[in-house]
Formats: sequence, C-alpha cells, structure tokens
Amino acid sequence: EKAGYEHFMMKEIHEQPKVVGDTINSVVKENFIDLTDIGLSEEDIKKISQMYIVACGSAYHVGIAAQYVIEDLAKIPVRVELGSEFRYRKPLLDKNGLVVVISQSGETADSLAALREAKEKGVRTLGIVNVVGSSIAREADSVFYTLAGPEIAVATTKAYSTQLVATYALAIQFAKVREEISEERYVELIREIKTLPEKIEKILKDKERIQWFASKQVNAHDVFFVGRGIDYAICMEGSLKMKEISYIHSEAYAAGELKHGTISLIEDDILVVGVLTQSELYEKTISNMLECKSRGAYLMGLTTFGRYDIEDTVDFTVYIPKTDPLFATSLAVIPLQLLGYYISVAKGLDVDKPRNLAKSVTVE
Ligand code: F6R
Repeated sequence: EKAGYEHFMMKEIHEQPKVVGDTINSVVKENFIDLTDIGLSEEDIKKISQMYIVACGSAYHVGIAAQYVIEDLAKIPVRVELGSEFRYRKPLLDKNGLVVVISQSGETADSLAALREAKEKGVRTLGIVNVVGSSIAREADSVFYTLAGPEIAVATTKAYSTQLVATYALAIQFAKVREEISEERYVELIREIKTLPEKIEKILKDKERIQWFASKQVNAHDVFFVGRGIDYAICMEGSLKMKEISYIHSEAYAAGELKHGTISLIEDDILVVGVLTQSELYEKTISNMLECKSRGAYLMGLTTFGRYDIEDTVDFTVYIPKTDPLFATSLAVIPLQLLGYYISVAKGLDVDKPRNLAKSVTVE
C-alpha cells in the first residue's frame, strides 16, 4: 500500500508531481483555462466584487498564498479567514462576493459551518475539495475538485499542493476574463503552471541533502520560519509541518515583524529558516536574517537557483528551480515538507499518525 515507501507521508510527497499535474490538466487546456465544469461562467466571474477564502490549518495557508496571487493577477480584493473565526464573527458579506471554502476532506466542521453561513446570507460559494461527494462538495454552489487521490498521512502534503494550483488556475482565469492581464501574460502563465510538476520532481531528487540537514536538527526545540509576502505564507505551512510531525516548537513570522517583539527569543543556535523566493523582497529578508545571526542564530536559506550570494549570509542553503514568483509556494513548500518528515523519522516518531491529531476534524 505504501508502494515501497516507509510511510504514507513520503509516498504522498512523491505523488505530488503526478497529482499536481492531474489537477492542472483538469482545467488548463492547450493554451486556455476552462472552468465550465466547475460551474463558473464568464458572467459569474465578471460579477465578483470581493472574495472570501475560508479554511482551516494547511488549507488556510493555501488561502494566504492564494490571496497574493489572486489580488496580483485578477485585482479582486481577497480576505482570508479561519473557519473557526469566520462563523462567529458575524461576517459582513458583499452580495456579489464569492466565498471560497478550501478543504481536503470536505468535512471539516468549521469550514462546513462557514459555508452554510455564507449560503444563508445568499452569497455564492465555491468549494475547493478533494473528497468527492463530501459535505462541502455537496453543499457548495460550485466545486473545484482537486485530484490528489486519497490522502492517508494525517499531515497534508499532496492535497495542499493540489489546492494551491487550483487557486492559481482560478486567479489566471479570473484575470483573463476581467481583462486584467494581456493575452501574452495569460499564455505565459499557462505555460509556466504546466512546468510545476517537473520542477517539483527535480526538488524531490535532492531529498538526501535535506535528510542530512534534518539529522542535525533532531535536538532543536524552537525554529523560526521567516519570510515576506508569499514567502510568509510558505513559512506558515513549513512551520505547521515542523510542529505537527516533529513536535518541535516553531513559529512563522513575517520577517519584518520579528523586531517588534519576537527577536528577543533569538539566541545561540536557534534555527532560523528564511524563505526568499521573491526577488524584490530578498534584500529586506536577508537583513532580518542578519539581525538573527548577530544574536547567535543558525541560518538556513531557501531560495531560487542563481541567488548564490545567499551563501555569504546563511549557513545552509536549499535551492529551488526558478518559476513565476506567484507560483513559488508550490516549489518552496517541498523542501519544508521533507524537513519536517526527516526530523520526525530521525526522532523515531509516528510520522503518519502524530499524537493528538485526526485526519479530519469534524468537531468544532
Ligand atoms: C495539516 C493538516 C490540517 C488540515 C486541516 C483542514 O497538515 O492536514 O491542518 O489542513 O485540518 O482539513 P481539511 O482540508 O480536510 O478541511
């Protein structure tokens, strides 16, 4: 069942090129995107005044990354909310808004309640769901099915990655229909999204390097993931993987926010992982990392091939292939999944079934 892998999580990490490709191919055709099966017409798309993305856990982190991509391309204001907060906040929803609920299982109680809340208010809903026929899939007005296949490991990897590319496809097509991007940019984005599976595959080939690094981190007790913009969204997911399967306390911080308090926690040998995929934010994040280094932190940097000057600053570097900066999350998350995985294995923990967690959270 584990197809020769030691754990479901590793098997699922390796399925990512395939399932990300399948999810892309379900809507991205030769040189255009077709959302008609999902039930979103051009008219529907033109009408959207505001988007609300509601989800929990890793799916919420997808929402944070998607917010940057959708606002950048489609110029639709996006608000991202935790399912457990949205429903009790008495949200003010625009009647031409679109509420997008992202959920692998389609059964997460808080996400489902948020969907019902939106429907009750007469606002259109779209589910990005993996499990066919699940509650959220049944109740949403439209459904974008991610094609991750069954995910067994409690910590999500492949479902997360398919959710991300689903949001990219929406962003690109919304931008096109609303005439926010040129035909050239549209074709370029479509070409680029199709290269993501092979780039993920390339990162997986280098996994031993992460395994080696992980073996040195088994005694870590605090890890800080720092980044700006989309890189901050990646940090949130990297940090959750670290906590949930390696049982190491970690935090994701917007790099510029460190100096507003948290930097007092940085001391000798604390691991700080900087994510630097956005070139216009690179120097800013580097300077925040240097502030950590001068307080004794050990630095890991995650950046794109070509940015070799990072080695002047950090102690250990992981490079990912170049892509459009808007799609960087899909690549940068892979080494962070591997890092959490390998530390967990090195500590002898139950990777696929971490303590206190269930695959689908059907209680509030
Ligand atoms: C973390 C993880 C959880 C889920 C969250 C939402 O690895 O798997 O944070 O992302 O419980 O679950 P779904 O997507 O089923 O609504």
